[in-house]
Amino acid sequence: MSDLRDLYQEVVIDHGRRPRNFHALDPHSHHADGFNPLCGDKMSLYLQINADHIIEDIGFTGSGCAISMAAASLLTEQLKGKSEAQAQALFDAFHAMLTQDEALPDLDMLDKLAVLQGVREYPTRVKCATLAGHTLRAALKRDDQPASTE
Ligand code: FES
Repeated sequence: MSDLRDLYQEVVIDHGRRPRNFHALDPHSHHADGFNPLCGDKMSLYLQINADHIIEDIGFTGSGCAISMAAASLLTEQLKGKSEAQAQALFDAFHAMLTQDEALPDLDMLDKLAVLQGVREYPTRVKCATLAGHTLRAALKRDDQPASTE
């Protein structure tokens, strides 16, 4: 367990300080804004999805705590080359890992995102960790309304 905790700290610090894919994407095919009402932090997510529904490129901008930045960084790293359906399934599994007491998803599928499972012990931080995912979901649905973690 302490190995997992060490890895968690290492990954959150690394990706929180130097988030990958931290940029707007122009042109992009999909975009959404996300909002965490608990703290007021905002995020924008941009995707370039091709005609075969594959995510060719992805980027995000915004401000937030280390956990929200790290989660967005890890999520965007894992989404490149995935289909829209795989992206949705990945976020569903990530959300289930953080919010469900039973029936934990296949953690192998989550790859490095599984490191964030320690966040489930802190319910208010779950919203930080899922801000990018809620924003992703809104972008895939082409939802014009800002996505909220509430
Ligand atoms: Fe705002 Fe974490 S404190 S997203």
